[in-house]
Amino acid sequence: MKEISIPGDKSISHRSLLIGSLCRGKTRIKNLLRAGDIFSTIACLKGLGIRIEETEDGDFVVEGGCFKKPDGILDCGNSGTTIRLLSGILAGQEFEATLDGDSSLRKRPMKRVGEPLTLMGANIIGDYPPIKVKGSYLKGITYKLPVASAQVKSAILLAGLMASGKTTVIEPLPSRDHTERMLEFFGVPIERDGSTICIDGPVEISGDREITVPPDFSSSAFFIAGGLLIDHPIIIRNVNINQTRTGFLECLKKMGANFEILNKKLLCNEPVGDIVVKKSRLHGINIGKEIVPRMIDEIPILAILACFAEGRTKIEGAEELRVKESDRISSIASGLSKLGARIEELPDGMVIDGGYPLKGATIDSYDDHRIAMAFSIASLVVEKIEIKGKECVDISFPSFFDILYSIDTSKIYR
Ligand code: S3P
Repeated sequence: MKEISIPGDKSISHRSLLIGSLCRGKTRIKNLLRAGDIFSTIACLKGLGIRIEETEDGDFVVEGGCFKKPDGILDCGNSGTTIRLLSGILAGQEFEATLDGDSSLRKRPMKRVGEPLTLMGANIIGDYPPIKVKGSYLKGITYKLPVASAQVKSAILLAGLMASGKTTVIEPLPSRDHTERMLEFFGVPIERDGSTICIDGPVEISGDREITVPPDFSSSAFFIAGGLLIDHPIIIRNVNINQTRTGFLECLKKMGANFEILNKKLLCNEPVGDIVVKKSRLHGINIGKEIVPRMIDEIPILAILACFAEGRTKIEGAEELRVKESDRISSIASGLSKLGARIEELPDGMVIDGGYPLKGATIDSYDDHRIAMAFSIASLVVEKIEIKGKECVDISFPSFFDILYSIDTSKIYR
């Protein structure tokens, strides 16, 4: 059994820094993800006058408190979570700040956060980065999300902490609930009833808490997929198995995958467990829009697995993939076509006929970390796959290739 060590969860790492910055007192974070997107959040918070220090034992300590007007533009790099969640926090400050990012982030829609935050009283200028957030006195609103997005939900909830009165968010479908769980962990009263989440503001959060970030499920998903394709079993311990993230496992089960989850427990209000995966014969399935938000970041790797499954896999209701770090529907379709897969692109998904042999080719990562990692996993079993721009994995998973190369297969092109 090959044991694989996956770094801290990206979504939970962002939230621990951002919520920590809102607390009175210090928050100590263990196992914070060290990767590009998280460095962007740290840099933005430091630009806003928040003290964040790394301790000798590798923990991070955030000293929450007063935000100050930044001297220049806040650079969110490649990180959608940074720009959207930070907009929620800045909406309640007394100053104006400009948020920008790289060429990929500049293509990502921000109106989805601008609209609700404007209804709460802030002034957000710009539908795409750079955006200007003019903070203000906020009032609570009831907002029905037009798209299932944890980033938008979280931006509103974070603004709701500073608003007066009730802020209610209604989700069309469940999306990751790390913000709600972490706020609960920090003692913030949150009402949750089905698709409705409600915070009664303003809320002062007391700090001096310690939070441990569990290994990232989305990063694990690449090696879970790898374990289904190669001869030796893989174990990943203590992974976050929050149900709002594990739609991928539900699909794998339906595809006939052989895996088990052991030692389930709660860590800082997040469920974790050990995942053991064994080589499996997979078959195609239909994936519809209800489950998509709970596996949105795993669709690239699921598409790779679909090529090794007998029969047809159809993914629908996943149009959000078009506005991720790249247009992921088109990135997957162009890469898989080059490998000789039978794939048809749909406006909101794709159809893959699996079970046909794939051949090596040079694949463009489109500077999208999850595209680079998904195709690299295919290289465990397909010879001569070369990935262009594979350094982009540093955005979420800098140790990805070290782990991949530690898995003994002669197929990998380095
Ligand atoms: C994230 C939410 C998802 C996901 C992203 C991280 C988060 O985005 O794709 O990688 O941390 O809240 P959306 O909320 O836009 O779906």
